[in-house]
Amino acid sequence: MPESKPSAEAWGSRIGLILAMAGNAVGLGNFLRFPGQAAANGGGSFMIAYFISFLLLGLPLMWIEWGIGRRGGRFRKGHIPGMFAALWKHPAAKYLGVIGLVIPFVVLCYYTVLMSWTLAYTWFSLAGNYWGLTTQAEMAGFLTSYQNISDASAHEFWVPFLFFFLSIGPTIYVLSRGISSGIEKLAKIGMPILFVFAIILMVRVLTLGPGENGVSPLQGLEFIYKPDLSGLGSAKVWLAAAGQIFFTLSVGMGTLQTYASYLSTKDDIALSGVATAITNETAEVVLGGSIAIPAAVAFFGVSGAMAVAQSGSFNLGFVAMPIVFQEMPFGGRIFGAMWFGLLYFAGITSSVAMATPIVAFFEEEFGIDRRKTSWTIGGIAVVFGVLTMLLFESGFLWEWDYWAGTFGLAVMAVIEVILYMWVFKPENAWRSMHLGADIRLPSLYKFIMTYVTPVFLLIILGWWAVTQAWPTLTLTDCPEGVVAGALCSQGSVIPEGMAVYVHLSRLLLVAFIAFFLVMIRIAWKKNGYDDYADFIEVGPDGPFRAGSVTRPNPNAPHVVHAHDYVSPLLPEHGDDLPERP
Ligand code: ALA
Repeated sequence: MPESKPSAEAWGSRIGLILAMAGNAVGLGNFLRFPGQAAANGGGSFMIAYFISFLLLGLPLMWIEWGIGRRGGRFRKGHIPGMFAALWKHPAAKYLGVIGLVIPFVVLCYYTVLMSWTLAYTWFSLAGNYWGLTTQAEMAGFLTSYQNISDASAHEFWVPFLFFFLSIGPTIYVLSRGISSGIEKLAKIGMPILFVFAIILMVRVLTLGPGENGVSPLQGLEFIYKPDLSGLGSAKVWLAAAGQIFFTLSVGMGTLQTYASYLSTKDDIALSGVATAITNETAEVVLGGSIAIPAAVAFFGVSGAMAVAQSGSFNLGFVAMPIVFQEMPFGGRIFGAMWFGLLYFAGITSSVAMATPIVAFFEEEFGIDRRKTSWTIGGIAVVFGVLTMLLFESGFLWEWDYWAGTFGLAVMAVIEVILYMWVFKPENAWRSMHLGADIRLPSLYKFIMTYVTPVFLLIILGWWAVTQAWPTLTLTDCPEGVVAGALCSQGSVIPEGMAVYVHLSRLLLVAFIAFFLVMIRIAWKKNGYDDYADFIEVGPDGPFRAGSVTRPNPNAPHVVHAHDYVSPLLPEHGDDLPERP
């Protein structure tokens, strides 16, 4: 029994928790995906849709996920199947939770590959590998050669693999160290470094003189921040904005809930949730918006920057920025290393979060030691990461990003908002969110969470079903008629004959779902859980109390959550606890 090391599974401090949560949210999405999406979707129009999505989807879902997560922790459930089962006494609840294992696992597999590009480019910047490649075409060629293993024009085939292993290794190591000695420590180091690098880069970019075409970087800011209503009639802009809010806040990924499960009902989640969201938005809108776009606008003009963004999701970061660094009168290599280094730190604090729900599942339900689980999950992620690298040219990675990292997040959000606000009931959810709270949430948000958020989500998914589902599923969504699956929504096409790999990527997603469904079934059977009874609440008396499970199994794993040692024994229906005055 792991009681001897309870602190390994709880947050050590409030600041550590906020930094870890912010580290979970702040990632490649803030500095690479956001500028790309904003520039490709019309700047000022995108930002209006973005802020509305933040207020009506992002923020409410952030509180909902903290609430679901902390409530799951009371029953020693740090994974979504358990959290859903704790909300809805029905056999289907745990199976719905499969989405909360598949999404973070799949995103982990390809996100660590994207992260490895940033580590590689940190080195390339310091070593000056791309110095001399000063046109977009040359830098794009340098990037393509890195991404496509078969293209050795700029990089030997083993180079991307080397950087992949170098970048995923620390992720697994940190994960294996646990919550406070691994994840929290990483956040305490990584987050300040990231912010310092980002502030230095922002100041440097905004003080760049006008580029060759006489455009000042400040015009880049105007492009994003000047309200523009013209694009708001376009569903594409709304989908892109909502998708970005999900991705950047890590909402719908299953990771915020796991982090929150290590909190007790004495801990605040209302203020901490909003603090996390604000930290993420500061990193995204203020810092993320003030580096790549202004720099690209200064060098290529507004339309040129938009064209770069539209030519590939990450091209502002990996094609435009390296050109800007080379044009700097001094310190270009250092600034380049800072840019890609900050991306790496942003990425690693998010990638560890993606693995935690799966580690929690195997640790809590099968009693497998965290270290073993971490290295095993990491090993499996390496295998599938390598596969995405080998098949990159076919659009394999973007297909996973589309289904797991975009579409899946909205599906997960719909399920959890319905379970928490409707099945569990708004009054219970509201009370639960306010246990230990340092602030009272505006009561308008109870209405928003109950009605507006789910309706907004259903409209988004409904619109997708009507306009995009069929062409995307049948690979007929490219205007030119080229088979490209989800890649079309990225504005790219895949070489002919590669569609088979797109199907393979989808098949694997189905296989992951099937695998985790079976594991959930085995876990429930093995631990003797009764689908219609409450899980046991954690208290000082140990893992089981009479009547909690149909067949109390003394050998069932007991993973210590914060409740085990900081909370008094909670009443049977702990959500009836009085609110703190
Ligand atoms: N929220 C994480 C990011 O922005 C996944 O990259």
